[in-house]
This record gives sequence, C-alpha cells and structure tokens, in this order.
Amino acid sequence: MPDEARRSQDARGEEARDQEARGRLAGKVAFVTGAAGGLGRSHVRRLAEEGADLVVVDICRPVETVPYPQSTPEELDEVVEDVRGLGRRVVARQTDVRDRDALQEAYDAGLDAFGQIDVVVANAGIAPLLVEDRVQAWHDAIAVNLTGTFHTIEVAIPSMVAAERGGSIVIVSSTAGLVGIGGASNGGLGYAASKHGVVGLMRAYANNLAPHSIRVNSVHPTGVATRMVTDPAVIEFVAQDPILSEESPNALPVDTVEAVDVSNAVLWLASDEARYVTGVTLPVDAGFINRR
Ligand SMILES: NC(=O)c1ccc[n+]([C@@H]2O[C@H](COP(=O)([O-])OP(=O)(O)OC[C@H]3O[C@@H](n4cnc5c(N)ncnc54)[C@H](O)[C@@H]3O)[C@@H](O)[C@H]2O)c1
Repeated sequence: MPDEARRSQDARGEEARDQEARGRLAGKVAFVTGAAGGLGRSHVRRLAEEGADLVVVDICRPVETVPYPQSTPEELDEVVEDVRGLGRRVVARQTDVRDRDALQEAYDAGLDAFGQIDVVVANAGIAPLLVEDRVQAWHDAIAVNLTGTFHTIEVAIPSMVAAERGGSIVIVSSTAGLVGIGGASNGGLGYAASKHGVVGLMRAYANNLAPHSIRVNSVHPTGVATRMVTDPAVIEFVAQDPILSEESPNALPVDTVEAVDVSNAVLWLASDEARYVTGVTLPVDAGFINRR
C-alpha cells in the first residue's frame, strides 16, 4: 500500500477509535419525548451513555382515557438525575406533545442551552385501552401518538435544516404500526391507526428531509414490560377482548423484549453508523411480524 494511503487509513482508524472512546453520540444533542416512561427513560440513558446531551419532555400527568398512570414530575426528575450522573447535560420540561406551542418552547429552551439539536426521538405514546369503551379513546390515541409525533418533528425541522449538520429522527411506532392488531375497541383501533399513521409521516419526512442529510426512520417494538403492558387495567382489557387475547406470540422464545433492546435500535439509527439508513421501518419484535 502506498505511504499516503496507509497514513490516511491510519488517520481514519484513529478517528474511529477516538469516537468510540468518547461515545457513539459524542458531540450530539438529542430531543426525546415521553422521556420519563418505561422506554423513554431507557432511550435517554442509552443516548447519554454514548455521549449525547439531552432535551427531555414528558406530560407528567394523566391522560383521561388511559387506564394506567402516566409519568409523574418526580419520575422526570429521576431521569434528569440519571443523565447528570452520567456526566451529560440535560434540559427538561413538563410538556404535552399535543400542545405544539408548548412543545416548541421546550425545544427552543434546549436549543438555547446547547446551540444545536441533532437527534429527535418521537417516543411519547398512549394506549387508551378502556374496558368501558369510549369514542374519546380514538381521539386521544390519534392526538398523542400521531399528531404528537407530527408536532415533535415539526418543531425540530427549522433549526435542524438551518444548522446544515444533517441529523436523525427516530419515531417509536409499534408492531401495531405494521400489521392489523389492536382489537376492535375505539382505543385499540386508534392505537393501530396512529402507529400506522406515523409510518406515513416517517416515509414522507424521509424524502422531504433527505436533501438536508436528515434521516427519518421508525422502530416497531413487540411487547415491552412497561406500564402500558403490565398495568392490571391493561391486563384486564386484553383478557376481555377476544381478538387481542388471541394475538400470536413472538417467534423467539420470549414474551417481551427489554426496553434497552429498543433503545439500542434507537441509538444505532441516531448514530452515524446508520448514516445511509433512511425511510426504514425497523422491527424490534423477536420475530413477531415474520411469524404471522
Ligand atoms: N410497551 C410496549 O409494549 C410498547 C410496544 C410497542 C410500542 N410502544 C411504544 O413505545 C412508546 C413508549 O411507551 P412505553 O411502553 O414506555 O409506555 P409508558 O406509558 O411507560 O411511557 C410513555 C410516556 O409518555 C408520556 N406521555 C404520554 N402522553 C404524553 C403526551 N401527550 N405528551 C408527552 N408525554 C406523554 C407518559 O407520561 C410516559 O412517561 C409509546 O409510543 C408506545 O406506543 C410500546
């Protein structure tokens, strides 16, 4: 190999080793919604472990048609402490993703603090699965899961485009965003429709933002043991719904995956390791979809 080529290869190797030592997201700032919940706090931890600073939001109060508790302000405080404990910086706000103006304020507070935002994780979501079914459950699922995701991306686009640094947007959908599951209730149909809806958003944004080197992808977890799945109210709902209680299990021999398994997929999509991956629906589903 000519000397010049070897020197260039050595330099690239050194750069990669340096990057690895500092973390796969060193120098980046990530905006995460639903950050105090089961998956959200795991994403935040994983991104911070790999060197990112964080802007985190969570509603921190109940949503009327959701039968299990949403996060509390104390739980958001714990997430803040967790990030600081990892030596990273964090801006946190109690914000509802349905309120676009409030979400813009939260995003802008992060932008003021850090000067840039490179990664967006649209994770906030609800499963309004009510035994006493109500039409409002449909509206709430669409408002939080679909419109909230739209707001999360819209508030971020202007600064990401203006910065000309590229970036990565990751939407947390579900296996219910790829196949027809969720049951026959208003809330279950709203969940399936909203999780499919974000795939449409993801595909359109991936095309719209590609000229700016901003990538947009979605992840599709099977069941994860968070409140959305383990709360007694949800277990009661699933048991009384003949369609849901018959859903086929995962192909791999696990009932659920861990939050960190989903966060590792989010991390990879957020990192430069996935620099040419955009417009992709990535299942983290222990083979659930392939088995159907
Ligand atoms: N747990 C699962 O089995 C599973 C499977 C597939 C997809 N998902 C998706 O993963 C994401 C995270 O869910 P989770 O399992 O961590 O549930 P979770 O209930 O533990 O966490 C959701 C978080 O979002 C917050 N939130 C709810 N409404 C909000 C709003 N309007 N604005 C801001 N924050 C809001 C809640 O306070 C909570 O902290 C959701 O989008 C969910 O649909 C979960």
